[in-house]
Amino acid sequence: MAGQMKGKVALVTGAGSGIGRASALLFARTGAKVTVADLAVDGGEETVRRIRDDGGDATFVRCDVASASDVEAMVARTVETYGRLDYAFNNAGIEGTPGHLIADVQEEDWDRVHAINLKGVWLGMKHELRQMLRQGGGTIVNTASAAALVGWPEGSVYAAAKSGVVSLTKTAALEYASKGIRVNAVCPGFIHTAMAERMFVTYPTLPQLYAKMTPTGRVGTPEEVADVVVWLCSDAASFVTGVALSVDGGLMAGQAAPPVGVGSE
Ligand code: NAI
Repeated sequence: MAGQMKGKVALVTGAGSGIGRASALLFARTGAKVTVADLAVDGGEETVRRIRDDGGDATFVRCDVASASDVEAMVARTVETYGRLDYAFNNAGIEGTPGHLIADVQEEDWDRVHAINLKGVWLGMKHELRQMLRQGGGTIVNTASAAALVGWPEGSVYAAAKSGVVSLTKTAALEYASKGIRVNAVCPGFIHTAMAERMFVTYPTLPQLYAKMTPTGRVGTPEEVADVVVWLCSDAASFVTGVALSVDGGLMAGQAAPPVGVGSE
């Protein structure tokens, strides 16, 4: 897809690490100018440095996606700098404090995770949609999770926020389809990022467990998610809107199915 997004403008939140960074790099490699938004200054600036070293055009904007004024300023800065907004990837997220049954969840954890993972996506879409309506179209992708699609023991706070992201995505797709704006979500399975590494601390056997649960036999890479995000934004996906697309090596395909070989043993 090199060069296909030439002249286009992309905005990626949580672009200082993991899935967001891989997506920002790919948008740039595909020809788009990129606003790299993150709360973490070092990570965001490193992403910008990598894009520029690669010959691309990127600008870092420090933004807490849970802050309405930050998000409004992030979109405004993108338009001031690059003149428009064609692709928005609302991806910033945190894992919160997993490992608690619902009765043991702390209210502060609920509020923080929902402020970033759900309200942050709504705030992003609110301002991105206003700009896309002004210019007559655009594409949005939100990061949900495999956890959005099933019950998730000891991960209720995160799973509930991500289910909300799927709901917001589908509703936005319906509300804005006639305005030339497509809205989709990705639902990654277990992807090897800094977030995943932090989860290993709570659950040291998680990588092996997921590799075993995932039909393809391994966890995913940020680049494998980025490929899907950029494709969803591209004209190659022009008839795709309102989907919550699993990028999970088959993890969700057979939730109620026995693994291969069971029954013939
Ligand atoms: P990561 O920790 O590598 O990257 C997340 C980025 O978001 C970091 O750069 C962080 O500074 C930024 N961020 C956190 N809070 C922010 C805030 N309030 N405002 C702006 N930026 C903020 O994690 P990863 O894995 O790349 O996660 C990206 C998204 O993918 C998240 O929404 C996560 O929930 C989701 N996801 C990740 C999975 C995985 O296995 N790694 C699986 C399913 C979904």
